[in-house]
Amino acid sequence: MTILREALVLVHLVGFALLLGGWAAQAIRRAYTTTLLFRIGLGIMIGSGLLLAIPFPAGIQLDYVKLAVKLVVALAIGGMFGVVITRERGGKPTAGPFWTIGALILLNAVIAVFWH
Ligand code: HEM
Repeated sequence: MTILREALVLVHLVGFALLLGGWAAQAIRRAYTTTLLFRIGLGIMIGSGLLLAIPFPAGIQLDYVKLAVKLVVALAIGGMFGVVITRERGGKPTAGPFWTIGALILLNAVIAVFWH
């Protein structure tokens, strides 16, 4: 069961790489829109994160306040995807919500690492 948790952490980190990498690839060419990579990355983060929230192997201690905050931030990222897509269709500027997505991705990584 330990190896399963470790494999899920690896999947979670691959999702993080896709999400932040997808965002950074757009940011660097100043194209403030979302791509399929964003959605795949966030889907992996939420899917693997929820599986990691299951308390296994036996005896593991999980901080459910921390995990709830991470879930709320992840859902807010999804909401911001919607804002970017709607604004893009309406021909409105997308930079604001796009940078907010980057800040929220980083916020969740900071919470993951620094919240004990
Ligand atoms: C954009 C969304 C997210 C980002 C950027 C993110 C980032 C990370 C990172 C960098 C780690 C590894 C660092 C560490 O273990 O200290 C981690 C671990 C973890 N994440 Fe996330 N995460 C996200 C979403 C979620 C969600 C939605 C959940 C569950 C509700 C979740 C649950 C966990 C758990 C349980 C671990 C610890 C794994 C372990 O050591 O057993 N994450 N996350």
